[in-house]
Amino acid sequence: MSDNRTAMLEKLADLATEQEKAVNAGGKYIARHKERGKLTARERIELLVDEGSAFLELMPLAGWGSDFPVGASIVTGIGVVEGVECMIVANDPTVKGGALNPWSVKKSFRAAEIAERNGLPTVNLTESGGADLPTQKEIFIPGGRGFRDLTRSSARKVPTVSVVFGNSTAGGAYVPGMSDYVIMVKERAKVFLAGPPLVKMATGEETDDESLGGAEMHSRISGSSDFLAVDEHDAIRLARRVVARLNWRKEGDTSVASGSSYAEPDLDPEDLLDLIPTDLKEPFDPREAILRIVDGSGPGNEVAFDEFKPLYGTALCVGWARLHGNPIGILANARGVLMSEEAQKAAQFIQLANQKDTPLLFLHNTTGYMVGKEYEQGGIIKHGAQMINAVSNSQVPHLTVIMGASYGAGNYGMNGRAYDPRFLFTWPSAKSSVMGPAQLAGVLEIVARESAEKKGQVFDAEGFKAIKEMVETQIEEQSLPYVLSGMVYDDGVIDPRDTRTVLGICLSVINNQRIEGAMNFGVFRL
Ligand code: COA
Repeated sequence: MSDNRTAMLEKLADLATEQEKAVNAGGKYIARHKERGKLTARERIELLVDEGSAFLELMPLAGWGSDFPVGASIVTGIGVVEGVECMIVANDPTVKGGALNPWSVKKSFRAAEIAERNGLPTVNLTESGGADLPTQKEIFIPGGRGFRDLTRSSARKVPTVSVVFGNSTAGGAYVPGMSDYVIMVKERAKVFLAGPPLVKMATGEETDDESLGGAEMHSRISGSSDFLAVDEHDAIRLARRVVARLNWRKEGDTSVASGSSYAEPDLDPEDLLDLIPTDLKEPFDPREAILRIVDGSGPGNEVAFDEFKPLYGTALCVGWARLHGNPIGILANARGVLMSEEAQKAAQFIQLANQKDTPLLFLHNTTGYMVGKEYEQGGIIKHGAQMINAVSNSQVPHLTVIMGASYGAGNYGMNGRAYDPRFLFTWPSAKSSVMGPAQLAGVLEIVARESAEKKGQVFDAEGFKAIKEMVETQIEEQSLPYVLSGMVYDDGVIDPRDTRTVLGICLSVINNQRIEGAMNFGVFRL
């Protein structure tokens, strides 16, 4: 087995362990939940989506490294329900009663953003104790956006469905309240602005759960529920019937949807484990990765990857391909650094993709833009600005995969998170930060030395060694994919071998809307 494969398999085993933490986040409460005759969030999703279809779970590691359980008490992802790609958001009631903490809020906002930008109907599988009370100050004010997003989706003619399996109190009552279709489970759903104890305190009225907010009451009396389900399975059946009747039509290119209309890659994706070094100092040719991700050559796709401007700005490889039949433009770092030629080549290529309404895929392995007198005088800032202008104002959908390094402004130019890619995934070998850990620690040392000299002090080089090591370790840890995934800076860490399937699902999702490139960019500083 190659060294690269051994190292990547270790990282993948580690990733599986971390993802398992999200599945088991409820701990002892999972058994209690099942004893109550309830399905877990993941079981509900599995029953909701079409048999044999893929569920693309998003942000499973949200909250990693925080004080809250991995996964942040909700499960989110894109699943196919009665042939319709839906954003599914399921509370995990085994984690703090499904209460939403600051990371759950970030995760649910990102899910709503993905639904909005790709025009996906949303299905909420609701059972939550509302706000995590000890951290309410961080979520109460921004959290209102969740309800706003539901009704705005409805206004855009993108329907929302809420299936209430249990508690949905206070603010949570507005999840079904703001949804277009509501299903409640008999004797389980409880939807009220305030439960019996609070009502007693506020008005002195004596009442009970069922008459305040039970499924029967809402289905027969208040009208806040449209369907009364006899149990959880029935509720999921009803949700599928609702989606089946949405009369949903994809507005994008659906001619490429059939699996038989494209060829599998010319080279085996399994080889990616041998080819991708986990040591970022080792370079690799991204063409090797591209040919294992995109459709292979065959009828309608004579050449798997048509490289554009192959002799110019060779540290960036750009070109056209198809992925699951979808035309796509790819920009991939071939050597770490980006120079003026690469930046200008990228700006030109992005404009070409917009001219022909073709989505773009950015494959990161960059240490950033070139520094030094020669490059500054050659206009590296303005050329980098041209690339960032093109990335920022491009209107075709962007997909980003961070394969290796993603440092400095290279992260921006290559369409990092701040530049709104429709989806962003990382490989377990990836690292992102303002610069490499050793470089950052080295810069700090130079600054500290100069500062001491300015004050007329002697710089304690030996003493600074420990600080430098500490900083290097800290930056190394902070730039790892789990940390960034925990902070919801990506949509998930994926196995390189799954890249093609994941991107294929994303491209199908993107085609829920018409793809239309930009006619205008900002003023290019020439
Ligand atoms: N914030 C923080 N922690 C909460 C919580 C909340 N909103 N709701 C529940 N929890 C915690 C519980 O304290 C308990 O913690 P523990 O494991 O450390 O003991 C754990 O979640 C499980 O709660 P439990 O009450 O045993 O679960 P349950 O399944 O029997 O009931 C609820 C779940 C949600 C019905 C119930 O916990 C509840 O009513 N919570 C408060 C709901 C509320 O009023 N929220 C305010 C909305 S703004």
